[in-house]
Amino acid sequence: MCRLYFIFLFLLACETIFGKISRRLPADGPLYKEKPPWLKICKRNDPNLATCLNEMFVEMFPELAKGIPEVNISPFEPLYLDTVSVSKGAGPITLAGSFINLTVVGPSNATPTFTNLDIANKRMHSGIFLPLLDIKARYNLKGNILVLPLVGHGSCDLKLYKVDTKVHSDLSFPKIDGREILQIDHMRVNFKVGSMRVHLRNLFNGNEVLGQTLNNFLNQNSNDIITDLSESIGRSLGEILKELMNEIFSKIPTDLWLRVDDEINENEKKQESFEKTNS
Ligand SMILES: *[C@@H]1O[C@H](CO)[C@@H](O)[C@H](O)[C@H]1NC(C)=O
Repeated sequence: MCRLYFIFLFLLACETIFGKISRRLPADGPLYKEKPPWLKICKRNDPNLATCLNEMFVEMFPELAKGIPEVNISPFEPLYLDTVSVSKGAGPITLAGSFINLTVVGPSNATPTFTNLDIANKRMHSGIFLPLLDIKARYNLKGNILVLPLVGHGSCDLKLYKVDTKVHSDLSFPKIDGREILQIDHMRVNFKVGSMRVHLRNLFNGNEVLGQTLNNFLNQNSNDIITDLSESIGRSLGEILKELMNEIFSKIPTDLWLRVDDEINENEKKQESFEKTNS
């Protein structure tokens, strides 16, 4: 009985691998009434819908990075996050704590690699490649990294190179003010990181020798560390991306970008051909 109880506790500990984030959200903005110039129109029955949607994302990203005040979309370059909590209770790496006040430079250089939207089954499978995420933050962490203990709080720099994500999203199509929008209900992110550089300052209450040793160790073992933390980081990335995407798609009804053929009116056809000849 007692043994069973301990096995249960152990399993519970293994389950507490998660990442959690929070971000200051802007107030709800108004819906777009007309198609903004940067928004590409795709048709639901287009046999090349995937290509069209991927181009739509490619063209959209630079605009979103700057932010769109008229509909309350805040810039995502740099991206500010209040907290990213980390909690991993078992395995070669155990960690508890959080990163606070994060400034992330690099999301605007993201490239959508593929976008497969399955409207009937309300699913989307997509890919995003980020050449570099350059993160500055405060940290407060305690745990064990392979053979070494880690404890400290202070400022830190974290660089993730060549982040290649594959994203599975579950969708719904609710209505706002009588107009349909795309909403991401759940997002699962798998990713690979090319390499990582970290620098945690003020480890072990400012002990320079131990701090330097641990930072070197973290950088030398970065591949193993990323692999072990990938589920936790994936969840955090999923929450961040979901929020960003919903912030945008809640402002642009599907009648503006995911059309049934006859919804495209003459004015917009003229606008499209005008934009084509001028680009
Ligand atoms: C995070 O930023 C807020 C607002 O700028 C500040 O009040 C707070 O002290 C910061 N927290 C840490 C741990 O630096």
